[in-house]
Amino acid sequence: MPSVYIKTYGCQMNERDSEAVAAQLVAKGYSLAASEHVADVVLLNTCSVRDFAEQKAIGKMQNIAAEVRKNRPNVVLGFMGCMAQSRGQELIDRLPDVDLVIGTQKFHRTADYLDEILNGKRDKIVDVAAEQGSEATIREHILNGKAQKSVSAFVSIMQGCNQYCTFCIVPYTRGEERSRRIDDIVAECRELVARGVKEITLLGQIVTSFGKREKRDEWQAARDTGVPSLVTRHSSQVSPFVQLLEAVHEIEGLERIRFTSPHPKGYGDDLVEAYARLPKLVESAHLPVQSGSDRVLKLMHRGYTRERFLGIVEKLRRAQPNIGITTDIIVGFPGETEDDFEQTLSLAREVQFDNAYIFKYSQRKDTPAADMPDQVPQKVREERNQRLLKTVNEIGKRKYETFVGRQTQILVEGPSRKNAARMAGRTRCGKIVVFDGSERHRGQLMDVKITRAGSFTLYGDPAIVNL
Ligand code: SAH
Ligand code: F3S
Repeated sequence: MPSVYIKTYGCQMNERDSEAVAAQLVAKGYSLAASEHVADVVLLNTCSVRDFAEQKAIGKMQNIAAEVRKNRPNVVLGFMGCMAQSRGQELIDRLPDVDLVIGTQKFHRTADYLDEILNGKRDKIVDVAAEQGSEATIREHILNGKAQKSVSAFVSIMQGCNQYCTFCIVPYTRGEERSRRIDDIVAECRELVARGVKEITLLGQIVTSFGKREKRDEWQAARDTGVPSLVTRHSSQVSPFVQLLEAVHEIEGLERIRFTSPHPKGYGDDLVEAYARLPKLVESAHLPVQSGSDRVLKLMHRGYTRERFLGIVEKLRRAQPNIGITTDIIVGFPGETEDDFEQTLSLAREVQFDNAYIFKYSQRKDTPAADMPDQVPQKVREERNQRLLKTVNEIGKRKYETFVGRQTQILVEGPSRKNAARMAGRTRCGKIVVFDGSERHRGQLMDVKITRAGSFTLYGDPAIVNL
């Protein structure tokens, strides 16, 4: 059977989609190749959120086509994911070496399509159609891919987004919001825990909207037919997302639950209260704010004000004083003035984020912001990026230093990425802790004493705690 190499660009959702495709191919007998240089099939799973990500994937494919195809003409080359979805056939027109283009609702068809190409039945395949029920197809896992047990796993709970922020291409590449059924998600989580997983991260583009559309549709159906709801487990004041958290929380042997990405508008009292009520739900929240200026937030169509955002942060900190809060911020959105930008700086200072991912605004095809007046010059975007980065780093450094001398619980995930001789784990509030350990610590919950803080990394010593 052939071997496959999948390279992934972009977010955790993409990582998860790639894992599911790899699992699907392994089940068909494929082996996983170590690099594009030795693989029979090379797939690039792409990101469209910023132009830079698209250019990187296109550049990579050009290199592969030039180098790999030269020596091994039968290698199959494919694009998957967001850029495949938004560009479709255009990718083959531009890069004739590409054989396969698979959109975001067709990952589960990869094995069949490769089969047809490898058997010479078809030459080129482009499939970017919508498919009903595709949200439930990202289900299979490779847990022992690196010959080691995975401690932490990602579970896709929904696809798409209906928020239509004016800068964002995701609603077009991922489609309408569609949620999986709670019982199906719980069954997948149970299987993972039975295979040794201790921590599950629930994934979606806007997880706080989980089940909302289905709930609305079913209410209408229930009113018309009298048949009770299938998606939600009980009708209460608790949102479908919190019902899902409750259901996953019941799984015995699961230690920690995380989720990403929520939308600030989804932080109702039920979710805030869940942090205090569900001990497996860790004290960590990624709360994308995008801007500190009400004027810009409105132009972005974010659906909240600065004051409302600050109110959510305050409520969360009241429920869980040690909660780690991270965010995404865009600088240089069309029309952003120096005054607007300073409001973002002041918001970052006011909230004291544990970390913030800063993005220079990138014009995306067919999004409303791409045609807005007063596009901010690249030089200004760059300069604001640097100023905000400096502020965020200073705050992060101070935050991380407050951990020194403290004892904290970590879940050990495996060798440190920067130094494979050491082990790394994560605190409940989401911070990486590197320590001297060995494979026998993998998967353990252990207490460490923090001895030093580095750049968005903590260093700890379990020995001091366990004396
Ligand atoms: N809710 C989604 C958002 C996806 S995009 C999720 O996290 O899954 C991730 C981040 O990229 C956004 O929060 C935003 O800060 C940034 N981003 C999105 N579109 C962008 C654009 N056109 N230019 C620059 N940054 C962008
Ligand atoms: Fe994009 Fe806004 Fe949805 S950032 S993914 S449209 S919440």
